[in-house]
Amino acid sequence: RTAITLPKLREMRARGEKIAMLTCYDATFAQVLDEAGVDTLLVGDSLGNVLQGRTSTLPVTLADMAYHTECVARVQPAAWLIADMPFGSYENGKGVALDSAVTLMRAGARMVKIEGGGWTAEIVSHLVARGIPVCAHLGLTPQRVHAIGGYRVQGKDADSGAALRREARELAEAGAAMMVFEMVPAALATEITNDNPELMTIGIGAGGGTSGQVLVLHDMLGLGSGRKPRFVRNFMAEGGSIAAAIGRYVAAVKDGSFPQADVHTY
Ligand code: KIV
Ligand code: NA
Repeated sequence: RTAITLPKLREMRARGEKIAMLTCYDATFAQVLDEAGVDTLLVGDSLGNVLQGRTSTLPVTLADMAYHTECVARVQPAAWLIADMPFGSYENGKGVALDSAVTLMRAGARMVKIEGGGWTAEIVSHLVARGIPVCAHLGLTPQRVHAIGGYRVQGKDADSGAALRREARELAEAGAAMMVFEMVPAALATEITNDNPELMTIGIGAGGGTSGQVLVLHDMLGLGSGRKPRFVRNFMAEGGSIAAAIGRYVAAVKDGSFPQADVHTY
């Protein structure tokens, strides 16, 4: 497989081929996911939950993120590699944010992801101007869970929907090439996707109208106890190998059969 680059992802977006993303935190899974045809790997700070057993992502450090990014990058995946900027690594301003992003890029990331709305626009443009591709993250932003008051759907009413549309526009204008929408109504994510044709939109609990999908790896493999959010589908349920389950995920994202409007969507 030849390396997936930013221009290749933009071409996929332009011709309507859905982008399949999964989280990935280690070398072994990086190889499995890469061979199964996953387009982009996200070293998500969800590693705080699924690897470290924490109840939120807030304690995850930049050193944690750099370590796992190195583990994934070491297998030199063809897939595009994105690393999350963890809580506390960018909020204090663009200088701190650049230092943090440099750490992750040196660890092997090709793009960094930043949670937050319009207030992150100046950070995004600072990084993009210095050659660091940025993915924004709107809707439910788990690093802000205590301010939000729980893991719940965002942008449901007219006012918060309009705010989300505006923030998406600001971040796109600041140079964000990609944007994750987490737990927002499908209609809203679809509208923002159609209004911003240059932007690669990736949904998680945001319906099938975005230009790509992401899930937490452990969730889509049916691992872990506790109730899963409704947007999760267990791709291991049909049995077979982990590689086969990942392959089913990629195929379902590409052919539009995941997410299902009446099952995985708000
Ligand atoms: O950390 C993570 O896994 C994420 C995805 C859910 C988008 O940010
Ligand atoms: Na994250």
